[in-house]
Amino acid sequence: MSALFEPLKIKDITLRNRIAVPPMCQYSAKDGLINEWHQAHYATLARGGAGLVVVEATGVSPEGRITPGCLGLWDDKHIEGLTQVAEKIKQGGAVAGIQLAHAGRKASANKPWEGDDHLADNDPTAWQPIGPSADAFGANLPRTPQAMTKSDINRVKQEFVDATKRAIEAGFEWLELHFAHGYLAQSFFSEHANKRTDEYGGDFAGRSRFLIETLQAVRKEWPENLPLTVRLGVVEFDGNDEKMLSESVELVKQFKQAGTDFVSVSIGFNTPEADIPWGPAFLAPIAQRIRDEAQIPVATAWGVDTPELANETIANEQIDVVMVGRAHLANPHWTYYAAKQLAKEDPSWVLPAPYAHWLHRYAPAAER
Ligand SMILES: Cc1cc2nc3c(=O)[nH]c(=O)nc-3n(C[C@H](O)[C@H](O)[C@H](O)COP(=O)(O)O)c2cc1C
Repeated sequence: MSALFEPLKIKDITLRNRIAVPPMCQYSAKDGLINEWHQAHYATLARGGAGLVVVEATGVSPEGRITPGCLGLWDDKHIEGLTQVAEKIKQGGAVAGIQLAHAGRKASANKPWEGDDHLADNDPTAWQPIGPSADAFGANLPRTPQAMTKSDINRVKQEFVDATKRAIEAGFEWLELHFAHGYLAQSFFSEHANKRTDEYGGDFAGRSRFLIETLQAVRKEWPENLPLTVRLGVVEFDGNDEKMLSESVELVKQFKQAGTDFVSVSIGFNTPEADIPWGPAFLAPIAQRIRDEAQIPVATAWGVDTPELANETIANEQIDVVMVGRAHLANPHWTYYAAKQLAKEDPSWVLPAPYAHWLHRYAPAAER
């Protein structure tokens, strides 16, 4: 069997293979609620054969959404729709994950295909973003956030906890805290965004405090037997990369101590000035460093989208799970396609019977 198709057990949860659909915002909700688009989208992805499907960034508060179209879990009214989504993912044979998020200073934005910038101040759907400091991201996101008070910090931590309780009620089995991509938690960790002079800023310990405390608070609620995971931007590509990487290793060690089981390694996106060396699997060696030095299972995404490359990163023990994003939008049956490409086994098992039977029976003779 190819490495990509080895199961992986973390706590009481077993992924049927090493392929995951990473969180991908659909920007298609109203008032944070699941609708038919999401139902069909997630059901299709789960049927495709991946081991894990992580539901998109889900706001812990209305102000924590990236756009007015983002999903939410700040109210009990959101539980029913997400319960149906989790159920559909499980019926497809995948583990049901959800990413809880607060967008911080990047909140109150347009949909990517409607400008990808901050909503205008006079837009009735806009709101005031918050952040560690009154310091804007810049470029397409110029709005200055309101610097968070200690009571804001405590409120947002509690919102993460309350959303976690609802995620449990909705039946999710894999929780991912969004500590990446320049959103609120990541921006606390970043010197680009965090200019605070109190205990939530300054040195490494100060810039890590909000992340660690949020994680500890969530850990108390999330069941011990289920994976608690974090997505962290560990590198910015801004010229100060070694400092951020070594701090990130240290931070992940602390996450592990606080009860994190798995880290999805990503990019900081805290500054528009970064010079990111896009390329196939370019983050895999960085993810491997986190894996080796912090001794924790990891995933990564960003251009690991051919079956051969995905298999290689797993077989070479660079990463434990591969996050295949856009390629899943292009082909929700990416796992079936990967199984066929790698030609190590009968790929029909990854599909439900109404598809698998015909694809197997009428496959070209050479593939049967
Ligand atoms: C449409 C879309 C929405 C995304 N939304 C999220 C999100 O909600 N949370 C997140 O952490 N990353 C998000 N991302 C980043 C993806 O999770 C993934 O890291 C990225 O697409 C790179 O992987 P790929 O090269 O396999 O597509 C999004 C990406 C896309 C294309």
